[in-house]
Amino acid sequence: MEQKSPFRDETGHAGRAYYIETFGCQMNVRDSETAAGLLETLGFSRGTDKESASLILFNTCCVRDHAEKRVFGNIGALKELKEENPNLIIGVFGCMMQQQEVAEKLYKRFPFVDIVFGTNLLSRLPAFVESAESGARTLAVDEQNIQIEDDLPSIRTGKINAFVNINYGCDNYCTYCIVPYVRGRERSREANAVVEEAKRLVAEGYTELTLLGQNVNSYGKDLADASFGKLLAEVSKVDGLKRIRFMTSHPKDLTDEMIDAMARYENVCHHVHLPMQSGSNEILKRMNRKYTRERYLEIVQKLRAAMPDVELTTDIIVGFPGETEEDFLETLDLVEKVGFASAFTFKYSPRKGTRAATMEEQVPEPDKRSRLQRLNELQERKSRENNEKYVGVTGIVHVEDCDEKHEPVCYGKFSNFKMVYFPGSPELIGQYVPVTITNVRKNSLYGKRADE
Ligand code: 5AD
Ligand code: SF4
Repeated sequence: MEQKSPFRDETGHAGRAYYIETFGCQMNVRDSETAAGLLETLGFSRGTDKESASLILFNTCCVRDHAEKRVFGNIGALKELKEENPNLIIGVFGCMMQQQEVAEKLYKRFPFVDIVFGTNLLSRLPAFVESAESGARTLAVDEQNIQIEDDLPSIRTGKINAFVNINYGCDNYCTYCIVPYVRGRERSREANAVVEEAKRLVAEGYTELTLLGQNVNSYGKDLADASFGKLLAEVSKVDGLKRIRFMTSHPKDLTDEMIDAMARYENVCHHVHLPMQSGSNEILKRMNRKYTRERYLEIVQKLRAAMPDVELTTDIIVGFPGETEEDFLETLDLVEKVGFASAFTFKYSPRKGTRAATMEEQVPEPDKRSRLQRLNELQERKSRENNEKYVGVTGIVHVEDCDEKHEPVCYGKFSNFKMVYFPGSPELIGQYVPVTITNVRKNSLYGKRADE
């Protein structure tokens, strides 16, 4: 028989493994790190696969595509594991479960799922696990009170880079986007809390951090005398911190102060993930993005003037309601003009409860598909062209990992986010290595060490 452990017993779950599968963005990755931290305070330890786990958690996303189908499919597939091991605890949380209707549907459809809860109730995970152990099922969604607590225990998963939340939620209500409904109003962490966390991470051995927010540029609007530029300045002073990344940037809030901070502080990386979404002013307006293609280009020019080596990446949606062929050509034109290092491209998919979902002129699927293909072809060419300018260039790679299966190669990124491969072995992981680019591969650069 299973022995029931008291809450926060360090030994009660010893030897019992948890396995977390995460869908979606970096915020979710960060939340999964917190879930892991909470489970480890209960005595669980990290497992490597679902089959041998005593507890399986799914952290779900609902931002795009057929997220729901995929998650329901994945959960359905756990039924057999539960039949083999009735003590197995299965939990589902995350943005998708923040939607009451979807959470209820999942809870009803899969009686073998023990715990279903929305992202904002993450701090209560240990209590939910306890209930599950005593045989009770939990369905907990609080759509009103979307708060996420800071400073919960967490287990970082990044080998060389640690995520640090700086603001939660989003107030922008882009008309296609579900995030404001599932992540709540924008809340900034106090700058001190961010700096203290950065210091702790450096003490643990991290030299690279990524500051996270749905819109990092609006950081501090809800605090006194705070802004993202000022925060960058503060974090950049943390001793031993070599690289500071951040995402995601919203063009409407990107200030000169931030550009100055990026250019001025040596450890702030020269990379901006700057979703453009569309190149058509009409569509940008319908998306409620609050900038024009002209303003977007102006920001790009400013960034490049301040930092000639800056690289830009982006998100683009095709087939937003009302998008005509002319609108789409404007998107292609802006992509051509900016020259992104890379782009995440998406077909618009209606999210229930958002304004765009009920707009009339929905674009037929074949048009979306062909526009996506044309956009991807253009971006592939632009990525290749962008890569070619690196041949002969030497930069510093922060080594993330090595692949020894084929030829022994290490990989990591330049400060500006370009991925670089070079011959090397695992003792280089975590180090900063100068590499000269010798040739270009499809999505990456290949080079050799410049220091030997
Ligand atoms: N349909 C397609 N793409 C979307 N994104 C957000 N919502 C939708 C949607 N309903 C994309 C945007 C955003 C990225 C995270 O996901 O491009 O920047
Ligand atoms: Fe969604 Fe727009 Fe907020 Fe980004 S800025 S999370 S796209 S509403």
